Amino acid sequence: MTSITRISILLLTLSLTFFLAMSTLASAQGMKKQHAYKPCKQLVLYFHDIIYNGKNAGNATSAIVAAPEGANLTILAGQFHFGNIAIFDDPITLDNNLHSEPVGRAQGLYIYDTKNTFTAWLGFSFALNSTDYEGTINFVGADPIMVKTRDISVMGGTGDFFMHRGVATIMTDAFEGQVYFRLRVDIKFYECW
Ligand SMILES: *[C@@H]1O[C@H](CO)[C@@H](O)[C@H](O)[C@H]1NC(C)=O
Ligand SMILES: *[C@@H]1O[C@H](CO)[C@@H](O)[C@H](O)[C@H]1NC(C)=O
Ligand SMILES: *[C@@H]1O[C@H](CO)[C@@H](O)[C@H](O)[C@H]1NC(C)=O
Repeated sequence: MTSITRISILLLTLSLTFFLAMSTLASAQGMKKQHAYKPCKQLVLYFHDIIYNGKNAGNATSAIVAAPEGANLTILAGQFHFGNIAIFDDPITLDNNLHSEPVGRAQGLYIYDTKNTFTAWLGFSFALNSTDYEGTINFVGADPIMVKTRDISVMGGTGDFFMHRGVATIMTDAFEGQVYFRLRVDIKFYECW
């Protein structure tokens, strides 16, 4: 072999190795894009809903504002409450204690929207005003209530959450009769600012 040929073979081998290494790296990055998103910010909060039942006007935090024909605004309707709409103004706390110092209010509505199981459609905001956070976070989504953990969309925010988006995993942390429930909300932002 001439030395020129030897050099060409060496160069060819080197460039092949380089391309192989680069393509492995590229596919690793591609995988990362698809599967390994990490939240840029995460917070876990609780909110507490005390449903008006005709006797608790003093501390109820939610009211039935719509009911199907034949039902009333005091007792949730039959057929899995289908057709009821409730509006709430609930305290948000850092832990699961209703009497902890609130860090804000959860305000919005839920609509019972399935006739043969418990599901709701949620549309609400967290208005946070604490030493840690000031601003709003806006949530929307379908809530299959009987499932242990459910994901809803975090559509955006204001203040400390300006241009934030993500997903919130909600879990029913307590459910007491027809009067009180508590949701644990694990908010994961995948877009921060
Ligand atoms: C609502 O207030 C009443 C009277 O103050 C109290 O007995 C009851 O435990 C309260 N309900 C909740 C869920 O805190
Ligand atoms: C509302 O409906 C429930 C269940 O049908 C009934 O027990 C209750 O008396 C009604 N309340 C009013 C204020 O009409
Ligand atoms: C936030 O809290 C501060 C201090 O308690 C209060 O002065 C302010 O009015 C609150 N802001 C809102 C939007 O509730």
